[in-house]
Amino acid sequence: MRIVLFGKNGQLGWEFERSLPVLGQVFALDREQLDLCDLHKVQLTLRELRPDLIVNASAYTDVDRAENEPELAMKINALAPGAMAEMARKLGAALIHYSTDYVFDGTQSILYTENDPTHPLNAYGKSKLMGEEHIKQACDAYLILRTSWVYSLRGNSFVNKVLGWARKNSTLRIVDDQVGNPTWARMLAQITSLLLAQRQADLYESIREQCGIYHLAGSGYTSRYAWAKQILALDPRRAEQTVRVVEPGRSDEFPTPAARPLFSALDCTRFEKTFGLGLPPWHSTLELAMAG
Ligand SMILES: NC(=O)c1ccc[n+]([C@@H]2O[C@H](COP(=O)([O-])OP(=O)(O)OC[C@H]3O[C@@H](n4cnc5c(N)ncnc54)[C@H](OP(=O)(O)O)[C@@H]3O)[C@@H](O)[C@H]2O)c1
Repeated sequence: MRIVLFGKNGQLGWEFERSLPVLGQVFALDREQLDLCDLHKVQLTLRELRPDLIVNASAYTDVDRAENEPELAMKINALAPGAMAEMARKLGAALIHYSTDYVFDGTQSILYTENDPTHPLNAYGKSKLMGEEHIKQACDAYLILRTSWVYSLRGNSFVNKVLGWARKNSTLRIVDDQVGNPTWARMLAQITSLLLAQRQADLYESIREQCGIYHLAGSGYTSRYAWAKQILALDPRRAEQTVRVVEPGRSDEFPTPAARPLFSALDCTRFEKTFGLGLPPWHSTLELAMAG
């Protein structure tokens, strides 16, 4: 199988570059090799590489910056996936794409299912929702996996931010009114690769039959505050922490350019029932992630 992976240096893409090779030959691309703003080049590259499978782990993910660059976010999160989907249809390739809990407004008090109405509060969420639409219109063998609060132990994730803050401050104040499902990028890449491996013999037809939007995130949900406390408790170098007090705060104490949904936890039942796979509870996954 020939596989094109977009976004190989991101949290999820980095993990995919390590889990996809068991399925076939992976052409993993980064921004330097291919800027997704060049839609013509996206299609040209796909035409040249002739993949059976396209995995799009790339995205414009800076939620606050997107407020000032909505057109750029739209290009990367909506037009580029649309161009990928169009080529997927022409080439007979399956497309795996990721979307976000930020397509919802967070006013619901129960887990969001795929049938709940979308209403993004910010430019990032709007661009990701538009990406879903472009894909749905352009091809018929895709999975759009909406995920939430993705972290890795590399880069500037919430986990690494909390660990950094805990080494510089004696008190931390973290919002406890934002609730979601922390999702380890490695588990997300692995479960997707497993799903693909199970369908390897008949990938295109199989994805076409089960084509659609699915929620896929760490099981259970938590607040940013409770998540941060768990991160600090699991810190393997706890002795380096200077923090003594962690206090719950409210989102309106920390104004940000982009509004964020308060309760955006996802119900992943549809994915679990369809594919017979699911992500483990977020806290046990965090333990594994932090054990190194
Ligand atoms: N992070 C979260 O909390 C979260 C939550 C819900 C859903 N998601 C979704 O999950 C997926 C994976 O997210 P992630 O956290 O792994 O994202 P990430 O770490 O920000 O990685 C995104 C990747 O996309 C690449 N990219 C951005 N603009 C590009 C361009 N113009 N041309 C080429 N490549 C470009 C980036 O390249 P550079 O490395 O060069 O910047 C980066 O490698 C995305 O679809 C995201 O929307 C994420």
